[in-house]
Amino acid sequence: MALELKRYADPSALDDALAGMVVEKLREGIARRGSASLVLSGGRTPRGLFARLAATDLAWDRVCITLADDRWVPPDHADSNERTVRSVLLQDKAAAARFIPLYNGAADPWAGLDAARAALAELPRPFDVVVLGMGEDGHTASLFPAADTLPPPSSATCADCIGIRPAKAPHDRLSLTPAALLDSRLIALHFTGAGKWSVLCEALKPGAVETFPVRTIIQQDQVPCHVFWTL
Ligand code: 6PG
Repeated sequence: MALELKRYADPSALDDALAGMVVEKLREGIARRGSASLVLSGGRTPRGLFARLAATDLAWDRVCITLADDRWVPPDHADSNERTVRSVLLQDKAAAARFIPLYNGAADPWAGLDAARAALAELPRPFDVVVLGMGEDGHTASLFPAADTLPPPSSATCADCIGIRPAKAPHDRLSLTPAALLDSRLIALHFTGAGKWSVLCEALKPGAVETFPVRTIIQQDQVPCHVFWTL
């Protein structure tokens, strides 16, 4: 299992280290292939990472960025991950990066799947770096435990992305599928807090992916996965 656990003293040291690793991998991708791709998550945890990346000197015009998931809300909605990326990351030096949003204005994620799949086809694959968060229920991206996911209103599916109707979390979402997330050269799982650490320890035990969807990322040996965390 290509899993590395990297614990840091505090959130600031954690974000410094993760930003450094992301920049190193993007630089490597640009040097080797002329461009690089970066997949990011939403929520609260990555805001410090985004601010650090925005202030970093890099050939951002060679970098293509998308999200691992987004809530199906317009980009000016307070809960939009796209809004967070645009307002915190795509500023200063990183403003030159190309951003591919998941939300495309369709009535719901299932109606938007074809356009989302076409948009994702613009990114260099395998993704150079995928940064994922994790909830205290063991979800990652918008891949929630089966018990917390309602039946979809449509059977529309696509290899790269999936519509999700969570039972508890707000909003329908569009999420990259496990296969798309694993079509990458390196995955960083990024979280803080003792609660999430104990969830990770549980998820590292043998068991069903449906119980802890993060298992699809940490219990595989296809892609190196580095867990960046602090209490
Ligand atoms: C989302 C994220 C989600 C997030 C976790 C952790 O759209 O909410 O992509 O997977 O990473 O829920 O969120 P926090 O960082 O806010 O705890």
